[in-house]
Amino acid sequence: MANSLDTILEGRRSQPHQLIEVLQDVQHDHGYLSREAIDTVSESLGVPVMEVYRVANFYTAFTLEPRGKHVITLCKGTACHVRGANPLIEQALGLLDVGEGETTENGLFTLETVNCIGTCALAPVVVLNGVYHPLMTPARLRALINRVRREEEEGTGHA
Ligand code: FES
Repeated sequence: MANSLDTILEGRRSQPHQLIEVLQDVQHDHGYLSREAIDTVSESLGVPVMEVYRVANFYTAFTLEPRGKHVITLCKGTACHVRGANPLIEQALGLLDVGEGETTENGLFTLETVNCIGTCALAPVVVLNGVYHPLMTPARLRALINRVRREEEEGTGHA
């Protein structure tokens, strides 16, 4: 169960230096930084709303749109590209029926692409919910996505 904004802000009001930690907690508990959350954080910490947006936009860990329960990140940096990232991306887009950076209608998956996640020796790399899957192939990616779908249907899936 997500902590409410009140709970997250408890003991941190009027403490502008807590901004990043508070935003991290909101992102973690709510899945994204809503406009309402940003307004509340701004007012509670005494940080101008433009500064909150600046920080939220600067760090890639923060998102201003709701994300899916499961986040799939496909690397399309040079090493991954050379080793077959494009077919992986095409397959994931088709399987999930979304565009890059989008979330499936059922809210289950968000598909992101990045330009290098720092594990080029293991290219092509796919990250699912923070877990790295090296040397990915289209068959393994399909199996991975299907496994998550199956677990969700069976009620055993976790983010
Ligand atoms: S290019 Fe994909 S991990 Fe570096």
